[in-house]
Amino acid sequence: MELPFAESWKIKMVEPIRKSTRPERELWMKNAHYNVFQLKSEQVYIDLITDSGTGAMSDRQWAAMMMGDESYAGASSFFNLQSTIQKLTGFEYVIPTHQGRAAENVLFSYLVHEGDIIPGNSHFDTTKGHIEGRKATALDCTIDEARNTQLELPFKGNVDIKKLENALSKHQERIPFIIVTITNNTAGGQPVSMENMRQIKELANRYRKPVLFDSARFAENAYFIKTREKGYADKSIKEITKEMFALADGMTMSAKKDGIVNMGGFIATRLHNWYEGAKGYCVQFEGYLTYGGMNGRDMNALATGLDENTEFDNLETRIRQVQYLAQKLDEYNIPYQRPAGGHAIFVDASQVLPLVPKEEFPAQTLTIELYLEAGIRGCEIGYILADRDPVTRENRFGGLDLLRLAIPRRVYTDNHINVVAAALKNVFERRETITRGVRIAWEAPLMRHFTVQLERL
Ligand code: F0G
Repeated sequence: MELPFAESWKIKMVEPIRKSTRPERELWMKNAHYNVFQLKSEQVYIDLITDSGTGAMSDRQWAAMMMGDESYAGASSFFNLQSTIQKLTGFEYVIPTHQGRAAENVLFSYLVHEGDIIPGNSHFDTTKGHIEGRKATALDCTIDEARNTQLELPFKGNVDIKKLENALSKHQERIPFIIVTITNNTAGGQPVSMENMRQIKELANRYRKPVLFDSARFAENAYFIKTREKGYADKSIKEITKEMFALADGMTMSAKKDGIVNMGGFIATRLHNWYEGAKGYCVQFEGYLTYGGMNGRDMNALATGLDENTEFDNLETRIRQVQYLAQKLDEYNIPYQRPAGGHAIFVDASQVLPLVPKEEFPAQTLTIELYLEAGIRGCEIGYILADRDPVTRENRFGGLDLLRLAIPRRVYTDNHINVVAAALKNVFERRETITRGVRIAWEAPLMRHFTVQLERL
């Protein structure tokens, strides 16, 4: 008989987690104003709020930490990290930062100015924030198909080349660079194909514009290219990674995702002017150039994490687990953004709770229901996150309303995933009884998602 699939690692250290009772969760959720960001982690049984900084490091990474060089300037850990990044990406210049948004802040301080337009595929919130905060525009050129959750496409994170060309021809003077987010988090952890990256680069060259990759989940993107795109089945993840980055001029990285560290990030580029321009901002905002916001030990752990997570076995174990959750939801007919993405399942709340009016935030309601059901913490990626229109102050109901179940790397077993799926099934089965959602009692004027206070209706 063919042997079944199993994880490419075994467990050396464990952390106990605790179940709670429904009355306990009712009280905790009320005290948290029905906002899961306000819960204490010990009030959570299975935590799927994010895959960012929540992964488990390997024995090699912990060993590398012990060898960290904490020298202020010229630390060996920096050169170790730099040479790993150079080997993986082909980018010559490396600036460490304390996380992804810090890399954006440092680089965009040099690159983005008032009135600029930065086209890309579903800019992540902080990326958009760093663009809009500089009075520039983040122009979303993602393919329209990404908005239909039930459509199965292998590369649903792609840039629409026509939309991009349109933007370039119309606003050529105002575009400092093009940004491509791999994988496309906001569209559901959906990958971008090599063919799409090649077309973007050709177009960019024609208009003499550099291309920046927001690379938080680049290794997962490479896995999808290997397993889905013609001509890549026999290439290694490291070969595919190199080929992807050859189609960009630089990258910002949140190392908390595919670097499998709890904190860290960096900028890497082949452009001397980007490096020279960003350097000063790194010193001003983050720290001196050979640590930029990171400890020596963390740079060492990151170098090892990047090396490990660009190996097929590690990625296969991870992405198969996300797909396993999707398979369970298929069994129960629960709709989600198809196909399963690299780091999370995005449940389509408007289809799961059709009786909850959009003004009462269905995805947030589903997030609350799942927590009350079994202590599982997901995260709303929907109408609350979308904030209000800055001019009209109306809620933005134009996008998708999703519950994201982000899977931390190397943390939970498939047994935990079974619990998540069963809990969601229980909520789904009583969906007819869930007719009311929540209303906002208090919200911050900007980025209300993290602090909003809600009341149940
Ligand atoms: N880019 C992408 C695509 C991201 O998903 C994130 C973070 C960032 C940039 C910013 O990186 O958190 O290190 O400052 N995403 C997390 C998430 C927070 O939960 O999806 P950071």
